[in-house]
Formats: sequence, C-alpha cells, structure tokens
Amino acid sequence: MADLYDNVLNSVKYIKKSYMGDIDIALILGSGLSYLVEQFENKIELAYKDIPNFHTSQVEGHENTLVIGDFCGKKVLAMKGRFHYYEGYSQSDITYPIRVFKGLGIDKILVTNAAGGCNEDFKPGDLMLIRDHINFSGSNPLIGPNDDRLGTRFPDMTKAYDPQGLELMKKCAGELGFDVQEGVYMFFSGPSYETPAEVRLAGILGADAVGMSTVPEVIVARYCGMKVFGISCITNMAAGITGENLNHEEVIDTTDRVKSKFSSLVKLFIEKV
Ligand code: HPA
Repeated sequence: MADLYDNVLNSVKYIKKSYMGDIDIALILGSGLSYLVEQFENKIELAYKDIPNFHTSQVEGHENTLVIGDFCGKKVLAMKGRFHYYEGYSQSDITYPIRVFKGLGIDKILVTNAAGGCNEDFKPGDLMLIRDHINFSGSNPLIGPNDDRLGTRFPDMTKAYDPQGLELMKKCAGELGFDVQEGVYMFFSGPSYETPAEVRLAGILGADAVGMSTVPEVIVARYCGMKVFGISCITNMAAGITGENLNHEEVIDTTDRVKSKFSSLVKLFIEKV
C-alpha cells in the first residue's frame, strides 16, 4: 500500500498536469462563502473526485472543486467545499488537501468559516479575525505514525495564526472603513450545535466563537510550515446567548448579508499579503 508521502506526490502530479506554475496562497471557503471563486480569472477547475486520494464533501451549500486562478493580483488556489469531521471522515482525511497544497509549493493559507459568537460583545454579521484556537474535538489530525519528510512529530502551535497577517487584516478592514472583531475559535465536532452549557464552557475557557471546522486544517498547515490566516463570519449568536433556537438557514442568511464586507476584506488582504 502506498504511504501518505507517495499519495501526496501522486495528487500533486495530477494537479500539475493542469497547472505547472507557482501559487501564492491557498484559500478555504466555508459554508456559503464559495461565491468568491466566481471572480477568479483564467480559472482551472478540478473536481475532487478526479484528484487521486481526495475525498468528497456531502454538505448542502458546498461544491467540490479545487480552483486555481488569478485573483487580486495573485495566483490563488481555492477549495470550493471543505471536508468536515462530522461527515465521518477522520481528521487526517479532512486535512489531506493541505498536505497536497504544501506539495504544490504553497506557503500561505487563508481559512474562513461560519461560526457562532459566544463573546457577548459580538453580533451576527461581525467578522472575527482568528487569533488562536481551542481544539475541543478530542482528536488531532496528526495522530498516527509521523513521516519526518512531511513535518516534525511535535509541531509548535504558539503562533498558529500568523500575527503579522492578523495585523495586516486589521489594517485592511480599517482602510475599508469597517470594524472587525478578533478572538479565539473553538472547534466542536458537531454536527449538533452546542448546548447552552457547552457555550458557557467555551466562554469560560476563553473562546469567542464556536464552530465545526478549520482547526484540523490549521494544525496540518502549521505542521507543514505554512503561514495561516483565519476569518470567522459570525453568523449567529451561539446557543443560549439570546435564547433563540439555532438553524442552518440563519447561518446561510447571515453569510449572504455580509457577502460584500467579507469579500472586500478577503480581496484587499490577498492583494497585500
Ligand atoms: N455553532 C457551531 N458551528 C456554527 C455555528 C454555531 O453556533 N454557527 C455557524 N457554524
């Protein structure tokens, strides 16, 4: 059986048949945020199902393609649709694409997600720049044998989210004329939303937002030595904060409502990073 290293090389080889050049940054778009990819120029689109060793995502609102194109003066690779732990994949499977991105020579990644706000100063529609995370899933994508050719056994997570990138994102938001929040993202496995008690716990532990993605990808990206930047779209207040029930429609509606703010921040940041 081929090992992980060989699998990554095979995926890279397949992608390079369609695109041989350098790529400046990878972009992972969360629930309802894929529309940005429509603005890429000179697009090359590869279906996950055709890329050796990739899996496919089944969640509504997600498409399943890797897109490489020109965007804001950069060559960008975007994952339209991501894999979630709650779909039944292992965290190692979810993060396989990140290893492939590194294999393609990419050294920066911007991850975005929809999240519930547990910081009471937040409101739905806010954008939160991710400063740090809490992995509350009880697992880790790097569990298992380590191949030293891919990264170190015990990767440092002290500056998981690039501090200079965070400052640059703040500056971009300032230039665009809107405020952004900054905070800690806490990863729950889902797919059930958190209970009010879990949300209170998240707050006590220092989280500002809760969600069901991103953290496995960030761990592997740091393991691979990539610079990571993260933005959460606060689509709703987390369970118990307002007393309202939660639903996926609200997540999609809020994402739609902040489209222009979110896109302008991502675009300016990609241009400047
Ligand atoms: N919890 C977890 N994931 C989410 C939420 C939430 O409240 N909102 C959007 N994604």
